[in-house]
Amino acid sequence: MRSGMMKRGLGILTSLLPGAQSARRFERNMKECAVSDQGPSDFDVVEDNEQVRLEKNLEDCAVPEQWCSYFEMAEGWMQESWEKIIWPMIRGADFSNVLEIGPGAGRNTAMLAQHAKEIHCVDLNEYPLHKCRERFANYPGACVFHFHQNDGHTLPMIRDGSISMIYSWDSMVHCSKEVMHSYIREFGRVLRVDGFGFIHHSNFGEASSKRSFKENPHWRTDMSKPLFLQYCGRSGLRCVEQRVINWVEARDLDCISTFTKGSESGFIGA
Ligand SMILES: C[S@@+](CC[C@H](N)C(=O)[O-])C[C@H]1O[C@@H](n2cnc3c(N)ncnc32)[C@H](O)[C@@H]1O
Repeated sequence: MRSGMMKRGLGILTSLLPGAQSARRFERNMKECAVSDQGPSDFDVVEDNEQVRLEKNLEDCAVPEQWCSYFEMAEGWMQESWEKIIWPMIRGADFSNVLEIGPGAGRNTAMLAQHAKEIHCVDLNEYPLHKCRERFANYPGACVFHFHQNDGHTLPMIRDGSISMIYSWDSMVHCSKEVMHSYIREFGRVLRVDGFGFIHHSNFGEASSKRSFKENPHWRTDMSKPLFLQYCGRSGLRCVEQRVINWVEARDLDCISTFTKGSESGFIGA
């Protein structure tokens, strides 16, 4: 069974089955069958395939209940993160049309809304969007909200060149390098010339578990600071600043990357 034909068979099945979930179910089945074998299995080889890794990351992130307990707990940390880290890095940006990836229950959205004319919140899961709709239903300010569920790596609902600022805090740290690459390509498309991006992402890089990001400290993925720079370069974006963040028990775990598009005269920091 450990033949090249078997590997190719899995690859073909993955691409032919109707959706990622069916493909994953099939692969799980295969993994369970191979569990008593020694050494690397065919499943491990298939896991190296970029499309399969992207789908696995999305499937792992799409368990809605896993984020629920986080939402309330994290609310209390927002003000301090905003004042000490976030606001000093974004205060010079144009907030007229903001795109936020992974809003969760909207604690960042509430801060952004104090400055934004319009916010598009995009999340892979419906439950956080439902929480956001409830939270901002009677918003007293001038900001207009749009909530979109997506496939976890593309932004078909956002028009080319329509966004003045792209923002994500504490969500894309769970996105694999394949998912990040796909999103950064989309950022290059939707950002206006001279627009600004602020993305908090993993810097755990090569040290990451090959099986699941959930085995890594704070569920960080195989994304890294140099990869972010490289993906920006391929997508017509220019990194403005990359700031590595240390956790008490884990140094260099995260990175905040800011970027702009197009002209050299764009936003270059507050
Ligand atoms: C840990 S919560 C953080 C929420 C919010 N950013 C905050 O700081 O409170 C992660 C959120 O990101 C969303 N998410 C995870 N992977 C995603 C992806 N690939 N694309 C869009 N949203 C994603 C989850 O559904 C969840 O709402």
